[in-house]
Amino acid sequence: MSKRVVIFDTTLRDGEQSPGASLNIQEKLEVAHQLARLGVDVIEAGFPIASPGDFESVKTIAENVKGPVICGLSRANRQDIEAVAKAVRAAEQGRIHTFIATSDLHLQYKLRMSREQVLETAVEAVRFAKRFTADVEFSAEDAVRTDLAFLCQVFSAVIAAGATTINVPDTVGYATPQEFGGRIREMIRQIPNIGDTVVSVHCHNDLGLAVANSLAALENGALQIECCVNGIGERAGNASLEELVMALFTRRDIYGLETSINKSEIYRSSRLVCKLTGMPVQPNKAIVGKNAFAHEAGIHQDGVLKERTTYEIMNPQMIGLLTNNIVLGKHSGRHAFRKRLNELGYEITDAELEKAFARFKVLADRKREITDEDLMVLVEDELRTIPEAYSLEYLHITSGTVLVPTATVRLRREDQVFEEAACGGGPVDAAYKAIEKITRSGVRLSDYAINATTAGEDSQGEVSVKLEQDGRIYTGRGADTDIIVASAKAYVNAINKIIFNGGRRGRIAIWQ
Ligand code: KIV
Ligand code: ZN
Repeated sequence: MSKRVVIFDTTLRDGEQSPGASLNIQEKLEVAHQLARLGVDVIEAGFPIASPGDFESVKTIAENVKGPVICGLSRANRQDIEAVAKAVRAAEQGRIHTFIATSDLHLQYKLRMSREQVLETAVEAVRFAKRFTADVEFSAEDAVRTDLAFLCQVFSAVIAAGATTINVPDTVGYATPQEFGGRIREMIRQIPNIGDTVVSVHCHNDLGLAVANSLAALENGALQIECCVNGIGERAGNASLEELVMALFTRRDIYGLETSINKSEIYRSSRLVCKLTGMPVQPNKAIVGKNAFAHEAGIHQDGVLKERTTYEIMNPQMIGLLTNNIVLGKHSGRHAFRKRLNELGYEITDAELEKAFARFKVLADRKREITDEDLMVLVEDELRTIPEAYSLEYLHITSGTVLVPTATVRLRREDQVFEEAACGGGPVDAAYKAIEKITRSGVRLSDYAINATTAGEDSQGEVSVKLEQDGRIYTGRGADTDIIVASAKAYVNAINKIIFNGGRRGRIAIWQ
């Protein structure tokens, strides 16, 4: 029987450390529920000591998400470990993941500790963590640049202290596949008490080798891989979950390893992470990119039509990619609308259905063909995870080659209506200035991205913005066939997140 690889997802910890990817508690919980549906074995839900918000997120996930082991990260000290223990206490199964750097470079410049001190600290941390849970993982940060003999000494000592998983991070993404695979093989050979301890790897993608290195480690005895949806994470990111899972499945003839992943949830998980982090994947991204299953060359199209496997090594339906394109039109009723949403995996309340259906009708008037992609964008836009403090009631734009772009915006906040006009460098800028006049949030627009949902001139525009306030980034998203309206909705959505998270300035503060 094939061995099973433990899929340790760190989208909510290392992934969330990506610049600008910060998520609020509701968003983290939504991602965690989706990771459970995806079937990951372990969710690293955060770094509880990092902030009260991080602690609450890990705790909320531990209390609410059933199925996967819920893990929290800690440095190798009592205070950090206690925070994780407290945060994961309510989980069905909780894990404490404690780490300390082991390379001479980190010891000399960062920790200013000797090897003996690091060894002692690591052992003490694992012993302390064992007081709270049987499931303890130890990571040797910068393991790839650590002297192999010392690395084996540390791992051997923490196993003796009770670590059940030992993790080998390529913290700076420096390894090459052959070298990394060899290191894992040697480690397993040299650690005398390795026994049943799970050997894990955590590869960063600085040289674009994170997936290749992780697979090389599996070929040499590792049985846990740490990865993130869409490969997000510090700097160039972590190994991509979807690439690892599909490589293991598609080339099971080579690897002979299984995972517990429910592959049909891969595409939905990728979309959710894109949407909530505001980090789209590039079109040519393996597995989940827009072009991953698109065939442009006539010779390829002809081949795929005759026999799909001529140019496709994976079935796109397997990852939950929708191929059923034209689904509903302006004559479709509520029943068909709800049925299709259910088929796409959305369970919505009657009130949500009414709101989404009204929007669907408006869209169907403007757009000939409503695809599954359109429906997903529409319903995700409607089913906001945070309350709508402000909603966009009206937007009027004048713009052109000889006109100064001007926007008039009306926003509703409960039973109050605010209207302002502003000029700007372009219509989007004018709309944002008018919204700012109303909300007085004092934010800085740090990123703006627009994407077409489907091909064709009547496609919906999906806009994602990042607003910065007091050093924090808030992501907002909006969709509409009119890209200026989509832009305004995205901005208002980000403002609503600031309010929900307790924004401090201007009119926002008055309304807390
Ligand atoms: O990259 C790294 O070394 C880490 C550890 C904390 C596991 O993220
Ligand atoms: Zn990392």
